Amino acid sequence: MKLLFSLILIFSIALNVSNSTKTLNPLNINIKESNPTCFSESSFVGFTTAYIFNSINAFFPGENGQPPKQDTFYESGTISYDFQNQLYYNQFYELDISSNLTTTATTWIFGKNSTQYFIPTNDATCYIVSKDATLPSQMPLLFPAGSSEIGITPTQVLSITDTKMANYTAETLLVTSDCTPMIYSVSNLEYVAPGEALMNFFFYATEPNENLFQLPSLCAEPTPVESSKLSKSTKSILNMFQ
Ligand SMILES: *[C@@H]1O[C@H](CO)[C@@H](O)[C@H](O)[C@H]1NC(C)=O
Ligand SMILES: *[C@@H]1O[C@H](CO)[C@@H](O)[C@H](O)[C@H]1NC(C)=O
Ligand SMILES: *[C@@H]1O[C@H](CO)[C@@H](O)[C@H](O)[C@H]1NC(C)=O
Repeated sequence: MKLLFSLILIFSIALNVSNSTKTLNPLNINIKESNPTCFSESSFVGFTTAYIFNSINAFFPGENGQPPKQDTFYESGTISYDFQNQLYYNQFYELDISSNLTTTATTWIFGKNSTQYFIPTNDATCYIVSKDATLPSQMPLLFPAGSSEIGITPTQVLSITDTKMANYTAETLLVTSDCTPMIYSVSNLEYVAPGEALMNFFFYATEPNENLFQLPSLCAEPTPVESSKLSKSTKSILNMFQ
């Protein structure tokens, strides 16, 4: 998925919205108005969405036990996630400015057999990561932290409790009154180096698309690869989950 709209326009508008959420008057917080069942573990089945995700120096979890590190990238793609059945599909384009690497690929993660498949676009190879591919089994902890408007659409600001990132970033999810995610935002805390990341969701559907979890025949004979060799972008949305 290439750019859906002008990147710069979206980025500058979204950044202003995200900044405004930081200056919300606490008196605006109306906990009664929040919908505590937005993403409850029992009712949440998953989702399918297109997205654009940009980061400028925001902190993200380190890999393999490393401390969080800053990253600057542009990414767009489509995700389908079946939370109950532990299935994950992500087709994406990423320009990682930090490493100056461009990746266009499709990846699948099957939580039940801890297997990940990865097909770089224009490369007739299906890579497999056996055993150590994981999907989150719990929903993130969310609590109401005010309200905002995206364009003229009223949104509820949900703060994400992410203990491994608590010393580095504040993370929020802005959702409509029917719990549709509009923006996921990451802001570096003021006592670490500055940085921001924003993910915008497009064409959000409240259910996984089962067709997308069918592996192509190319993956009948996959080539083994270590997970550390794969682009970390495939995990970006999973940062939202515990
Ligand atoms: C980034 O990679 C491209 C393509 O490999 C190369 O042409 C360019 O010089 C690199 N830029 C930097 C800043 O290293
Ligand atoms: C893992 O599970 C998926 C979905 O059921 C299946 O298509 C794939 O072949 C399995 N891979 C392995 C290595 O068991
Ligand atoms: C966060 O910082 C506090 C105080 O320095 C420290 O005790 C704690 O271990 C840190 N937590 C994480 C997850 O790094």
